[in-house]
Order: sequence, then structure tokens, then C-alpha cells
Amino acid sequence: MRLQAKHLMSTTRRNFLQTAGVTSVLAAAPAAAAPKGPNDKINFACIGFGIMGQGDVSTAVTVPGTKLVAVADIYQGRLDLAKERYGKDIFTTRDYREILARPDIDAVIVATPDHWHQQQAIDAMRAGKDVYCQKPMVHKVEQGAAVIQAAKETGRILQVGSQRASSILYAKARDLVKEGVLGEVRMVEAFWDRNSAQGAWQYSIPPDASTTTVDWDRFLGTAPKRPFEPVRLFRWRNYQDYGTGVAGDLFVHLFTGIHYVMDSNGPNRVMTTGGLYHWKDGRDVPDLMMGMYDYPQTATHPEFNLSLRLNFLAGGGEGSGFRFIGSEGVLDLAVGGALVLKRKPKETEPGTTAGTFSKSTANQILKDYRGKYPVQPASADGMRANTEQRWVLPPGYTEQYAHHANFFEHLRSRQPVIEDPTFGLRAAGPALLSNVSYFTKKTVHWDPEKMVVKA
Ligand SMILES: NC(=O)c1ccc[n+]([C@@H]2O[C@H](COP(=O)([O-])OP(=O)(O)OC[C@H]3O[C@@H](n4cnc5c(N)ncnc54)[C@H](O)[C@@H]3O)[C@@H](O)[C@H]2O)c1
Repeated sequence: MRLQAKHLMSTTRRNFLQTAGVTSVLAAAPAAAAPKGPNDKINFACIGFGIMGQGDVSTAVTVPGTKLVAVADIYQGRLDLAKERYGKDIFTTRDYREILARPDIDAVIVATPDHWHQQQAIDAMRAGKDVYCQKPMVHKVEQGAAVIQAAKETGRILQVGSQRASSILYAKARDLVKEGVLGEVRMVEAFWDRNSAQGAWQYSIPPDASTTTVDWDRFLGTAPKRPFEPVRLFRWRNYQDYGTGVAGDLFVHLFTGIHYVMDSNGPNRVMTTGGLYHWKDGRDVPDLMMGMYDYPQTATHPEFNLSLRLNFLAGGGEGSGFRFIGSEGVLDLAVGGALVLKRKPKETEPGTTAGTFSKSTANQILKDYRGKYPVQPASADGMRANTEQRWVLPPGYTEQYAHHANFFEHLRSRQPVIEDPTFGLRAAGPALLSNVSYFTKKTVHWDPEKMVVKA
């Protein structure tokens, strides 16, 4: 079984004996449009060739009609690696502006630490490049409007790199909600559990890191100036000056999934709590966070509530998943599969507590009650059957490939991408405001339509 979320597993096991399950393999989306001719290649570059930049490039080069031509990174070791992997003809530089100045580059992947996203994405669009910008789209919520504006003014395409938005699994979940299969969805839960040093961002610091191999000032950018300290570069997620904590790193993926499945623009109230309990390695962000979010009614969904949790000390194992709870059933969504469970209601009658009264009063209550609600024959009780239906991804399918293919396809068609800057800010907004709520210990009000913080 490929469904990975722990609660999904246990729910599945618990209910398996009671229900007849049906499993369907989802159909993969058609392959990305192939290039029209030999000159129809999209030349792209990568800015920030770390963990995700490498992952993005290794996927992007497998999309038909693409070619990696350049890599920018402020650490020499990563530029050397780019040549090692993709050949000595790859142009490399520590200054990303040299990449933007090259007319042979059509698109760039921005996979730098969060505090660089806004500037590099805007600079790239203003230089005429289309952009695949890693999540969260911005470091601070106030930076988002300028990215939207730059995309509008330049006509460039910007896709935010939260890959779930292109997944056929999430598309299935979205259809199920839209078709009313779950009834009225008033509650959504999502979680992310990790229980490893790497999961908690304890990444390696290479022994050759020095002011010779690293352009330290270019890493800092607009962040406060400070002397060279490699841990702040190689474990930048641990510091608010460059990263966005667990909310910006991981909640943002959950918001992307929820907003896509629920067809929602976001919550209007954000309340979080949490703490730094275990990974006390000098970081200034929490390692556990819980959030509650109110989603106002819109034309596409009723008012609903969301709870999120994230824990970097989860002894039960690593995993992430969603539960959409509707009046007619629940939808569990995890890496690789979706499951809809429908349960018989415990009883269809309004119910009575006659037994808590004296015998004579109880008899009177029961007489009145049965007068109003005669006992229904079991076969005609109108109760819905227990059902269980699963959808799994076809072998080899990855949402990462789907998201890159979607990006390059839209570069050719010039049609709007699935995760444009507005979608990106609507996912990043509540994630970044989760940090504001955590640090100020206050509820934050957000206007998800206008994408501004309310007083
Ligand atoms: N979509 C996903 O599933 C996913 C997964 C992981 C990371 N990410 C995102 O990708 C981004 C990068 O994360 P990562 O884990 O790869 O970090 P990383 O530290 O491994 O890589 C970042 C790279 O950027 C380089 N860099 C720093 N400042 C630079 C600058 N001014 N110009 C050029 N290069 C610069 C660093 O030297 C490093 O090689 C983050 O925004 C993160 O949130 C997304």
C-alpha cells in the first residue's frame, strides 16, 4: 500500500474489515507538449544550486525540449558540482545578474534561500525571463504585491514551486469536493511529522566553506550584515533573517494543497502556537507549531475551519497528510493516494435520554417519542452504507515532474500557469502570518482577496 500518512494507514486498517474497498489507479496527465522544431528548445538556468535547485534541475532537464545552460550560486562548491553533473560547457557564476544579462536564457529556476526570492524573481522578470520560483514565494508577506505587479507589467510567467498544485491526485481530491462527494466540508486537518536530524534541517557544512569559496555579502543580501558564519548559510532555514521557519518551509505546501482542493483564496484569521523544544542548536525559529485558521464563505466553498500541526520530534514516524471532513464522508489525502471513507451514522433518529429519568417519566417520554418516531424496519432505515474508495497514483508518476512540465508547457502556450504569483502569495500569506502570530502571540487578520493584513 502506498498511502503514507500514519493516520490514513491506521484508519484504513481499522475500517478495512467493515467495508468493501474499491481502488482506482488515476490516469496520468498527457505528456508535456513536445518542442515544435529543433530551435524550439527552452534554455534555462538555475539560481541557487543547493538541495532543491539540484532537484529542480534534475527534473527540468527530463522535460522534452529543455536545456540547462547556466547555474549561479554564491558557493564555489555548488558551481563545481554543476559542471561535474552537467558538463564543463555550463556557464557558472556567483553573480546571478550575469545570468539575467544573457539573451540565450529563456527561463530561470530560483532556488535560493527565502530572503532572496522576491528580488531575484522580480529582477529575472524585468530581464525578460520566465521564472520557476521556489516556495514560499516571498520572505515577508508585504513583498508579495511587487512580484504580482512585476509579472503583470512584464507579461512573464512565474510559477511557484509548490508541486502539489500540479498533481493529478490533488486534482482528483478537488473534483471529489466539487462534486459534493463529501457533503458539506466544514473542517480540514493537515499535519507534517518529522523525526530526524536532516528533517530538522541539520544539513552538512562543507569543510572548504570560507570567505574565498563563499560570496558571503551576496548571500546576506538585504539581511543584517554580520561576519562570515557558515552555519547561517548552510542551515539558513534556522534563522529568521533568511528563512521562514516551519510555517514558510512546510505549512506553505499544506496551504497550497488545501487552497487548490477547496478552491479557496485563504483564511481571514490566523492563530498559532508552538515552541522550540528539541533542536536547540542556535536556531531562532520553533520546531513545533500548531495553527488554527478561519476560512470565510466564498462563492466556491462554505465557511470552514482548518487546523495544522507540525512536529520535528514525532516519535510515531515521518509523514504528512490531509483530512477533509465533510457531512457525508471524509477524504484522506497523503503522498501517493487518496481515500474517501463514508460511515453509517450511529443512529438516524433524533435520540432520547428517557432512561435518565424516573420510570414513570421515562415511560411517558418514550410513549411520546415513539408516537413521533416509529421504529423503522432495518432494511428501510435510510442509512447510507459504509463505503471505502481509494485512488492511487500510476507507477512512476511524480508531481515534481508534472509541475515542471506544466511550467515549460505554459512557457510555450503563454497561458496562465496553475500556481501564479497570486496563488503563490495566497499560499505564502497565511504561512508567513503563522510566524507573525507565533512571535507576537496575537491573532492575525488577513484579507485573502486583497492579500493584505487587516488591522
Ligand atoms: N518545493 C519543494 O518541495 C522544496 C523542497 C526543498 C526546498 N525548497 C525551497 O527551495 C529553496 C532552496 O532550498 P534548499 O533546500 O535547496 O537550500 P540550500 O541551502 O540547499 O540551497 C540554496 C542554495 O542557494 C545558494 N545561494 C544563497 N544565496 C544565493 C544568492 N544570492 N545567489 C545565488 N545562490 C545563492 C546557496 O549557496 C545554496 O547552494 C528554498 O526556498 C526552499 O524553501 C522547496
